[in-house]
Amino acid sequence: MKNILITGGAGFVGSHVVRLFVNSYPNYHIFNLDALTYAGNLENLKDVEQKQNYTFIKGDITDATFINSLFEAHQFAAVIHLAAESHVDRSIKEPLAFVKTNILGTINLLEAFKTIWNHDFSEKRFYHISTDEVYGTLGATGLFTEATAYDPNSPYSASKASSDHFVRAYGETYGMPYVISNCSNNYGPNQFPEKLIPLFINNIINNKPLPVYGDGNYTRDWLYVIDHANAIDLVFHKGKNKETYNIGGFNEWKNIDLVKLLCKQMDVKLGRPLGTSEELITYVKDRPGHDLRYAIDASKIKSELGWQPSVTFEEGLGLTINWYLENKEWLNHVTSGEYQDYYEKQYT
Ligand code: NAD
Ligand code: DAU
Repeated sequence: MKNILITGGAGFVGSHVVRLFVNSYPNYHIFNLDALTYAGNLENLKDVEQKQNYTFIKGDITDATFINSLFEAHQFAAVIHLAAESHVDRSIKEPLAFVKTNILGTINLLEAFKTIWNHDFSEKRFYHISTDEVYGTLGATGLFTEATAYDPNSPYSASKASSDHFVRAYGETYGMPYVISNCSNNYGPNQFPEKLIPLFINNIINNKPLPVYGDGNYTRDWLYVIDHANAIDLVFHKGKNKETYNIGGFNEWKNIDLVKLLCKQMDVKLGRPLGTSEELITYVKDRPGHDLRYAIDASKIKSELGWQPSVTFEEGLGLTINWYLENKEWLNHVTSGEYQDYYEKQYT
């Protein structure tokens, strides 16, 4: 049995990746390492916690001593690294937390992986899960390809760009086998309600204002989280060493159009008259350094690995809304305590 380390597996994307790997690969033992920050939640993984090939470890990737002893004990054949501070707005207020986890934490993992294999990396792989935000912003036209130059604009994207560079540097300098994927905006079940879609679903449920930044004419390329997890599975198993793969939904939406679609679907599902939720839309102060447009050219992963999204946006959004409506207890748990404090500071 191969020991595989997945970091950040109690978070949004990570929990879907852990579930997929635990259920699909009984010959892997999946170790989920997560610090359980405000974004980490073991309720996301209740259905896999009893599985024989799964172990949860609470721990912080910024703690080098702990990380070294963990790698020594379990001799991980591969790492799928998702643990990160992931919210742009938080990075604007607290950049140092992003430097610590996203840069130093990644270097700790790279160092520990290098040390246990002592330069003998046959059949080993370090997979860094990254973001399209490293490419900066697009104007009205064009797409991000794997050859687009890095040009990050927020502390979050600068920290992810830096960690991508360190992963490449370990590949070039120490011969460490790696692969990187840069994905567009995910949505789906279990996303913490600080990000646009779950925040607005929660606010609509509670009849609270929907704070649209600036004029709402910013564009994102949305992908259902389970399609991202499937892409990660393919890149992990079939992606070429030292390659980068862009992952995207072929699905661009201006924020304001997305919010209006969300409002319509919510009105139908909540049995409210059409137009009720749209009345909650409130234009608020813009995000500093707000990237105008992200859009991914995902033709490489499509042609080389045969990946494509499995659901349309309308279907995925419907599934997502259903999940939040059916999991109000989950929402209540994550929106108590620290969340209230964050919300006050961010929106009032
Ligand atoms: P998330 O914030 O939901 O989850 C992050 C997880 O990492 C949490 O479980 C948290 O407890 C854990 N974590 C944070 N700091 C840690 C530390 N110091 N040590 C150990 N664990 C720590 O994030 P997400 O949206 O699931 O994103 C996961 C990864 O995917 C990130 O690397 C992010 O950059 C990348 N990504 C996300 C998206 C997206 O739209 N969500 C898109 C592209 C790439
Ligand atoms: O592109 C991939 C990235 O997508 C990931 O790497 C990040 O981890 C993830 O958080 C996401 O970043 P964004 O900043 O694009 O996502 P967010 O949901 O925060 O915002 C989406 C858009 O909605 C963005 O243009 C800002 C806007 N927005 C967001 C919030 C939270 C609002 O208008 N109002 C809001 O309250």
